Amino acid sequence: MSGIIIYKSKYGATKKYAEWLSEATGFPCVTTKEADINEVAEKDVIIAGGGVYASGIACTSFLKKNIGKLKGKKIIVFTCGASPYDEKSVNAVIKMNMKDDLEGIPVYYCRGAFDMKEMSFKDRTLCSMLRKSLVKKDPKEMEVWESALVEATDNEAHDWTDRSYLEPVLAAI
Ligand SMILES: Cc1cc2nc3c(=O)[nH]c(=O)nc-3n(C[C@H](O)[C@H](O)[C@H](O)COP(=O)(O)O)c2cc1C
Repeated sequence: MSGIIIYKSKYGATKKYAEWLSEATGFPCVTTKEADINEVAEKDVIIAGGGVYASGIACTSFLKKNIGKLKGKKIIVFTCGASPYDEKSVNAVIKMNMKDDLEGIPVYYCRGAFDMKEMSFKDRTLCSMLRKSLVKKDPKEMEVWESALVEATDNEAHDWTDRSYLEPVLAAI
């Protein structure tokens, strides 16, 4: 069985998971930017990973663009966010991102990392604005991802990456 891991990572957590998957499977891993669709389309299994940014899964634009060339392939998506796993939030992200031709592709969630100090000015500003709007809320009323974001935007470095998140992905292969 041949395979490839393609990923899009802004701050490194998705990249780390892609490299762990590569170690475990022997499949090469490349960024969506470097990936040559003709080479990807030769593989039996395509694992696509992307960070979650404002509820969007980063690797889905590559899949949407190229899905026509990937008919009949086993495609698995993993996504990497700052929130702890929460079925309701993950399902909402899946619903929003895996539409039309991408519907039904399995998506696995891995918890990533979050460090405001490492972010681009634009991302840091966006996260600070989101924090400002969320801290006004009663903590009891907050969704899991909302309280996680308030906790994570404290200017400390957070890293929740863990190989165990990949167990369901490896089982799915
Ligand atoms: C602009 C921005 C928006 C984000 N939005 C979300 C989000 O909607 N849900 C979530 O769980 N994490 C969110 N995060 C956290 C990232 O998903 C997390 O840092 C993840 O590790 C990013 O993957 P990367 O390290 O591969 O870039 C956001 C981060 C940034 C910078």
